[in-house]
Amino acid sequence: MYFRSVLLLLATLLPLSMSWGFGLTRRSVMKEVVATSAGITLTTSLPRPSSAAVPSSEIEGAKTEIVNLIKSDPNKGPTLIRLAWHSSGTYSKLSKDGGPSGGTIRFKDELLHGGNAGLAVTAVPWMGKIHSKHPQISYADLYTLGGAVAVETLGGPKIPWRQGRNDAGEDSITPDGRLPNADVGPAGADKSDAQHLRDIFYRMGFDDKGIVALSGAHALGRCHTTASGYDGPWSPTPTTFNNSYFTLLSSVNWTPREWNGPFQYENGKGGTLMMLPSDIALIEDPKFKKWVDVYAQDSDRFFGDFSDSFSKLMELGCNNLA
Ligand code: HEM
Repeated sequence: MYFRSVLLLLATLLPLSMSWGFGLTRRSVMKEVVATSAGITLTTSLPRPSSAAVPSSEIEGAKTEIVNLIKSDPNKGPTLIRLAWHSSGTYSKLSKDGGPSGGTIRFKDELLHGGNAGLAVTAVPWMGKIHSKHPQISYADLYTLGGAVAVETLGGPKIPWRQGRNDAGEDSITPDGRLPNADVGPAGADKSDAQHLRDIFYRMGFDDKGIVALSGAHALGRCHTTASGYDGPWSPTPTTFNNSYFTLLSSVNWTPREWNGPFQYENGKGGTLMMLPSDIALIEDPKFKKWVDVYAQDSDRFFGDFSDSFSKLMELGCNNLA
């Protein structure tokens, strides 16, 4: 009798999963089976439908919300890009886990990871509001969409974006330590920072060129003492996507800032711009420096390479996107 009802239930669930495009795994189906046989209602515990089933009008609606959010306060654009990057930058090509596919950065435990400081009270709730108006779109899709739309809205290249990421549960959160630190050696940029960047980004599947291209996003936004503890913007145009990160990195005499905060660089005493030790590592390491020079001289090349790498970042470990 028990097995007959289990079979019946599977027969009901599987076609459903096909027509809705669910990311159902054998484990999640069995969870539902156990839940139902335990008398728990099925609808509350079913996995979310895949975003692949979301009509394009919904996606367009969410895009408009994101554009309006940025237009109402352009400083929010860079923070949305940081959210998209941090939701994706946990990917490991070796263990094939982490990355943007599960939208797990919405959970408190992941937001408590050191690198995510500040996002719990900024971009995550901003996106939560948009999600409540477009609940069919997975958080995983929405966070990456936010990054792509922000890059474009702030004047950057078009970022190819596809939908279909399924939200995962808290058990998919990866351990803290997968995002890069701004300073890993003794205070200040040195070889260990360059090696750290390679360890982190090679794990995701990027090469030196991809690392430098992606870092160009630091033309945007700023460091907040209330979040990372660092302070200030990298460029004088923090809400315009351009190649100024590279022109400034290679042309300015960056000096250590003397202040009551973590070690960082400034553009001369009392300067208004900053660089992190991990930024300066890009001009101290000759293989990275080669790409800094390329992008400082050729803005179109930077736009093209950034678009390729950012789009790749948004799709790390994702299957069946459309
Ligand atoms: C290479 C290693 C990286 C390190 C060590 C690093 C570190 C940081 C730190 C410390 C902040 C300041 C956060 C705050 O105080 O609010 C920040 C902000 C930011 N990062 Fe990165 N980052 C890295 C790579 C990237 C990448 C790959 C992207 C995007 C492709 C990115 C995009 C941004 C943006 C847009 C902001 C500004 C956020 C805002 O204004 O709220 N970063 N990053």
